[in-house]
Amino acid sequence: MRVSTLDLANFRNYAALHVEPPGGVCVFIGDNAQGKSNLLEAISLLATGKSFRAAREADLVRTDCPLARVAARVTTSSLEVQAACIITRVGEGARKRFLRNGRGVAYAQFLGGISAVTFMPLDLQLIAGPPAIRRRFLNVALSQADRGYYRQHVRYTGILAQKNALLKAPGGVDRKLLATYNEQLAAVGAALIGARAAYVRGLAREAAAVHARWVGDAPQLRMRYVPSPALPEGDESPGAVLRAFSLAWETHGAAELVRKTSLVGPHRDDIEFALDDHALARFGSQGQQRTAVLAVKSAEYALLAAAVGEAPLLLLDDVLSELDAERRRSFMSSIEGCEQAFVTATELPDLAAGSAVSVFEITDGRLAARAQT
Ligand SMILES: Nc1ncnc2c1ncn2[C@@H]1O[C@H](COP(=O)(O)OP(=O)(O)OP(=O)(O)O)[C@@H](O)[C@H]1O
Ligand SMILES: [Mg+2]
Repeated sequence: MRVSTLDLANFRNYAALHVEPPGGVCVFIGDNAQGKSNLLEAISLLATGKSFRAAREADLVRTDCPLARVAARVTTSSLEVQAACIITRVGEGARKRFLRNGRGVAYAQFLGGISAVTFMPLDLQLIAGPPAIRRRFLNVALSQADRGYYRQHVRYTGILAQKNALLKAPGGVDRKLLATYNEQLAAVGAALIGARAAYVRGLAREAAAVHARWVGDAPQLRMRYVPSPALPEGDESPGAVLRAFSLAWETHGAAELVRKTSLVGPHRDDIEFALDDHALARFGSQGQQRTAVLAVKSAEYALLAAAVGEAPLLLLDDVLSELDAERRRSFMSSIEGCEQAFVTATELPDLAAGSAVSVFEITDGRLAARAQT
């Protein structure tokens, strides 16, 4: 799919922007603080319904303005979709409204119309940051690929919140209700674990292949899904997961009562990354970690394309810094075949001979096209 028009009104540092980006690779160049990340954030908002920065949503609205609007026309292989998000300040916070083809729709309906894979500097924490970042990655990737996953995840989060409230209830815990919540958590949790295990297996295979193409004989990228509860025999079938839940609650049930929180379930899952047998989080250099994250993102792109039957948008914010010249070139040529990619950088990257990209310059929330290279 590709964005054929993008319109921003009072979004971040953009007062008004209208752009008709061509297909292929579009590179947006600008000094720091000119609006490069903001532009990608706007496009990503239309795919995921959320900001890709851990931001207050009110911050998306241009200072001193009451509301912001992001709208795009996106062409897929079978249809043209108009998607818009309107963010209105409400007190200190903000309210979002979603529109598809001019009609208001709920968030769950809005999701899935536009698919995008995003890389931003915060993604570097995918390897060495806290596990919540890796779970968020799984949730965003799987929700775009599979609406059923999104619904199950919402359900799981709801039951978990109820269970945690019960564990914190003053005056003791209703054991019968606790058992009911556990039964529901295990059933929905088994579905999430099954989906995550299958996804990480596919992702690991694809990421390892991409990584090997970029780095040659250097150590190989390995990924391992580490579910909660642990599945000793590596069997993620629903029956095995349900047994693992029971076993884990026999061991940790008392601790949950003491600590008044749920200690078992996919809200505590993780993924481990390694180069050969060395944990990337502890041993990897910055450049090795960045290369691994990019390989994972490329793999996410391939899996999402296969799941939705359509090439997603590729949004790459400041990916090239810290890569050496060789890896930069390999990376740029690896995205050349994309239907549409948006790449930001402070300087125009070196390109392999014969590669064609469209270049735009961003200055203080304004965009100017440069001659094609
Ligand atoms: N709500 C807002 N209203 C007005 N300006 C904003 C708002 N939110 C962010 N900005 C400003 O937008 C500017 C551009 O931010 P952005 O993160 O897009 O920069 P960038 O071009 O990606 O820079 P860098 O190269 O440093 O990453 C910043 O100066 C920021 O202060
Ligand atoms: Mg930026």
